[in-house]
Amino acid sequence: MVELTINGRVVHANEGEMLLAVCRREGFRIPALCHHEAIEPFGACRLCMVEITKKEWKGWSNYVTSCLYPVEKNLIVLTDSTKVIELRKTVLDLQLARCPNSPEIRQLAAEYGVNQTSYEPVVDGDNCILCGICTRICEKMGFSAISTVGRGHDKVVAPPLKEAPPDCVGCLACSLNCPTHVIPYIDNGSTRIIWGRTFELIKCSKCGKPTITRDFAESLSKTKSIPAEYFEVCDECHRREISLTMGSIANWEREAAK
Ligand code: SF4
Ligand code: SF4
Ligand code: FES
Repeated sequence: MVELTINGRVVHANEGEMLLAVCRREGFRIPALCHHEAIEPFGACRLCMVEITKKEWKGWSNYVTSCLYPVEKNLIVLTDSTKVIELRKTVLDLQLARCPNSPEIRQLAAEYGVNQTSYEPVVDGDNCILCGICTRICEKMGFSAISTVGRGHDKVVAPPLKEAPPDCVGCLACSLNCPTHVIPYIDNGSTRIIWGRTFELIKCSKCGKPTITRDFAESLSKTKSIPAEYFEVCDECHRREISLTMGSIANWEREAAK
């Protein structure tokens, strides 16, 4: 166990834990747009910056991205010092220039008093902050269907050759976890369209509701050894079946005890 101080409060953390996780657990709010619990930290957005020091540093302090910085014994952390707020404002100013039409970025920037960017805004941009969550989560799922392509201002997230990605299974992990919600998809009940590909949606054999794509089900079936039939029934109907079975067992036990 490691003892450290965050905003004047002594807290305890596990060896190897990152500052961001500890700060959040202790109730300190830190913006972190490129962070996702399910994937490794990346350090792309720089918004989770905090100030750190130690008594023995004799007044010297440093600024670190808390998502990538592991806890240290006797560390003194300030999550909202004047300098930290200034750094976040600069980052948000830049992000607002890149994504002037993103409601998420506008709102976060406004919270820090940045209502207008001081840079030239990208008028017809895609509102992608290049946080890399989509590409990293897709890779973590085992598909690596999309990646970051291009350089500088032309950098975008896209499938290989900007064509419909053959490795995509339409799981939606990229789209649902995008902090600025800029990866579109269309579900029409029987098909899903994402990244220019059309996938068949499986319909629950009990209630008829669409569940996941056939490609995703086949992939899960293969990689996680889950029987293909499992995906023919939606989660809700699975839960209902389990509760009915549990109810029958309880009834049977009651009868047997009489
Ligand atoms: S929908 Fe396609 S691109 Fe997005 S995470 Fe799933 S497999 Fe990857
Ligand atoms: S599309 Fe969304 S998740 Fe992907 S890098 Fe851009 S902002 Fe991040
Ligand atoms: S959350 Fe730490 S750099 Fe983005």
